[in-house]
Formats: sequence, structure tokens, C-alpha cells
Amino acid sequence: MQLPIGITRGTSNYGLEYLDIEHPKARARIFLQGAQVTEFQATNQPALLWLSPEEDFRPGKAIRGGIPICWPWFGAHGSDTAAPAHGFARTSVWKLDNVINNDDGVFLTLSLPMPDRPDWPYSASLTLAVSVSDYLGLALTTRNTGSDELVLTQALHTYFNIVDIEQVRITGLAGSRYDDQLLGAAGKGLACSESQLSIAGEVDRIVYPRQPLGLNAPAYQLDIATQGSASAVIWNPWLEKSSRLSNFPTDGYKSMVCVETANCGADVAVIGVGASHTLQVEYRQLNTGKN
Ligand code: BG6
Repeated sequence: MQLPIGITRGTSNYGLEYLDIEHPKARARIFLQGAQVTEFQATNQPALLWLSPEEDFRPGKAIRGGIPICWPWFGAHGSDTAAPAHGFARTSVWKLDNVINNDDGVFLTLSLPMPDRPDWPYSASLTLAVSVSDYLGLALTTRNTGSDELVLTQALHTYFNIVDIEQVRITGLAGSRYDDQLLGAAGKGLACSESQLSIAGEVDRIVYPRQPLGLNAPAYQLDIATQGSASAVIWNPWLEKSSRLSNFPTDGYKSMVCVETANCGADVAVIGVGASHTLQVEYRQLNTGKN
């Protein structure tokens, strides 16, 4: 495909292809493996996404940072212990279908050539629309092309670049319930005790928000606007767990937090025959002038 001015192709040392996007409103990088946005910076805003400094971008290996797409299951596969965590979309190579560059921004559409897999014997199509503008938008659409109802879990697993975890607050939690994944069955349906969450240790929660979540970083404030989602995952591995993660530096937990727009936990996506479901998020930053 002929790319418009402002969009160029590149390749990592190990051969992963990416697109670099330059526009007066923002710059971004998107890898075709996983359709993974790894960098986004709106003009006059701090870089939004955390990307591991140890990431080496290898074929077939999940990229640590940016926005991995977890699909068609979130976390472990329901029955097959050999199946990859968070599904196969994030380690599969997607196809670029369309790019538009206009005064408003750059708008891309990618699709996943559907593999034939024993761990997922269904028929579906999957597309991702990415908007690179003074905001970053993602819309992940699954169409059920099979003859049975499709039930899936999924997430836009965004790693935010936050400089100092001790100063971060996740906002908008008032009145919400959550499943604390660190507590297993005992952690289901807990009530959020405060409207803001600060993080001082490992956190792994599926939250069922009652209003839009946000992030005070403190270099920026972020509004997270979602559609097609009734769950969000808040994750920071902290020190001990991070030593067991691939491509994750020892002190990496200090500069990242994941707030993921999801269908997971009690919030599963049920897609009728011939129907489709879109999981959507828009991130809008306000630079606070602090760092
Ligand atoms: C989060 C999960 O979404 O992803 C965590 O809630 C998990 O439990 C984390 O550890 C990272 O997963 P992975 O497969 O990218 O190391």
C-alpha cells in the first residue's frame, strides 16, 4: 500500500515491521505484530505510553509496553494451559488495510488475518481503528462470522508512562466494585473504599467502573473515555513480581501503570451470530507543566 506523506515504515533489529506517524497534532509508532501502538505523544504533551527499555522487538514474542491487544481471551485460556496468556492477537502479525492523513490527524485501520488454531475453534473477524490526533483513540471490533454465539474476554492493555508511581492517582473509582486478582475467590466483588487509588505495592484488580476513570500522573491528567466496556484492569507488578516478567527492568514498576479498557471478569462480550462488538477507548491528556 502506498503510504501518505507523514507515515513511514521501519523494521526492528529482529525484523518486526512498524509504522512511524508524524502529524502536526501528534506522533506515534505502531508495530504490525499485535497492531501494537508503542509510542504516542500529542504535540505539547508528555509521552503517554510506557515502553520497556529492555524490549528487543522479536517475532512471536509479546512486546512489553505500549498498548498490547489481549484477544480473544484475557489472562489464562479457560481450559488449555498451553495456550498463550492474553490470547494470540498480541503476538500475531496484523495487516494494514487503510490510512488517512488529514488536518484532523492520522486514522489507520488494521485487521488480523485469522489463524486456524485448536485453542480457538471459532470464526470471527477482528479490526482495529487507531486515531492519532490531539487524542489517541482505539476501536477494536470483533464480528462473529460463525454459526454459534461468540463469548470472549479482551483488553486494550495500556501501559502508561507516569514517571513516579508514588505520585500517581487513578480517579473515578467512587461507588465501584472490583475483583482483587491477588486474593483469588476471596477478592471478588469488593467495594472501592475511596474515589482515588494510589499505589504502594503490587496491584492487580478488575474494576467495574460507575463513571469514566482517569489518571493524575502528575506530569499530565488523563481522561479515559470508553465504550463497549464495563470493566477495567489496574495493574502494577511492583518489585518482586516484575523480576518474573519478560523484558521488564528491575525498577520498571516505578515508571508505569496499566489501566486497561476491558471486557473481563464478570464483564464478558457476548456476540450473536452475524453481530459485532466494539471495544473502544479515547485518551485525552492535559499537560500540568510538572514532571
Ligand atoms: C494484567 C493482568 O492485565 O497483565 C496480570 O491482570 C498480568 O495478572 C499482566 O500479570 C501482565 O501479563 P503479561 O502476560 O503481559 O506478562
